[in-house]
Amino acid sequence: MKKKIEKIDFDVSGLRNTDSFPLVGDPNEATRLRFPLVGQVVLITSVNREKVPSLATQSWISIFASRPAIVGFGCNVNSPTAKNILSTGEFVVNIPGAELAKKIWNVSEMETEENKQIEKVGLTPVKATKLSTPRIAECKAHLECSLDWTKKYGDQVVIFGRVLLASVDKNAVEADFGQRYKYLKLFADLDEGVYGVIKEAKKVNP
Ligand SMILES: Cc1cc2nc3c(=O)[nH]c(=O)nc-3n(C[C@H](O)[C@H](O)[C@H](O)COP(=O)(O)O)c2cc1C
Repeated sequence: MKKKIEKIDFDVSGLRNTDSFPLVGDPNEATRLRFPLVGQVVLITSVNREKVPSLATQSWISIFASRPAIVGFGCNVNSPTAKNILSTGEFVVNIPGAELAKKIWNVSEMETEENKQIEKVGLTPVKATKLSTPRIAECKAHLECSLDWTKKYGDQVVIFGRVLLASVDKNAVEADFGQRYKYLKLFADLDEGVYGVIKEAKKVNP
């Protein structure tokens, strides 16, 4: 007979101030953990009305529709990133490789009140094709997006963007399947200060 796997249920329907999904479990118990639904680490660039660029580390991001191409991500409504995008109507999603992980965690630890300078964290802003928001040169792919829709939940906002242009490093475009992912080194936010890297692409039916 198949062995039954024991499950532990966490009720997250009435979260209190001390709780914050995706953390589940009692804050005072050793069994508290980050729920295992992970998001890819990206850098969002945006500009304010004076065209001063800013960047933010984000991992609550995904594709939501394919025709038209829609991406969405969730962030704090008072963050410079949200304010910039709501006032200029544009942003760039930059896809980094894991070699940038340290720099990227440094970005997230910088003061939130001010626009973060891209150069200050050792990254290079380069002109985008369709927007006044810069891309980040060290990243391996970019989505240039115009603001499409927002939805507020408390002090957080989900921002949906229409993808106007997608750009991928030539090295990745021209590589074969296996080599492409070795080059891209895409990575996901797993836990506080912990990330996981996609190093291998496997065919379901080899
Ligand atoms: C790996 C990683 C992923 C993160 N993902 C998110 C996210 O998806 N949404 C969010 O609001 N903050 C996220 N943060 C925290 C933000 O990066 C941080 O609050 C940052 O200050 C936001 O920048 P801004 O205030 O300039 O917009 C993440 C931090 C790290 C290190």
